[in-house]
Amino acid sequence: MKMLFAITFSVLTHLHAENKMAEIDGYFAEYTVVVSDLKTEAFEVLNAKCNICHRKQNPFKIFSLKNMERHAPKIYKQVFIKKRMPKGNKIKLTKLEYEKLKNWLNTLNSH
Ligand code: HEC
Repeated sequence: MKMLFAITFSVLTHLHAENKMAEIDGYFAEYTVVVSDLKTEAFEVLNAKCNICHRKQNPFKIFSLKNMERHAPKIYKQVFIKKRMPKGNKIKLTKLEYEKLKNWLNTLNSH
């Protein structure tokens, strides 16, 4: 049973990452809501703390709800591994903002 749930979970994660909708049962509806909440929260962080600068300095990486999954591996690398972003000393992430990004990244299989 646990095994089955784990498999279902990863399949659903994949479906979601691809932005496909499928109705399997109650689990999916619930899971979608959770993921999209985490995604929205992460997007708010990206928009407030990253786009604010990227808009001027790095227009190739303006994060949106549409492209953030695609950029997730790089976001993870720059923020959590190399700690290069947010660039400079002026803009910092709070603990909560780091958590929001991490929680969203954890819903993806891409890093
Ligand atoms: C004060 C300006 C500034 C802020 C704030 C900022 N960035 Fe950047 N970012 C840049 C600039 C300039 C570049 C391109 C040059 C470089 O990589 O240093 C860049 C590049 C990047 C890259 C591409 C790096 C690569 O080599 O692939 C990623 C990913 C990135 N930023 C993520 C973020 C994220 C996520 C945040 C917010 C948590 C953020 N940045 C906040 C200025 C900023």
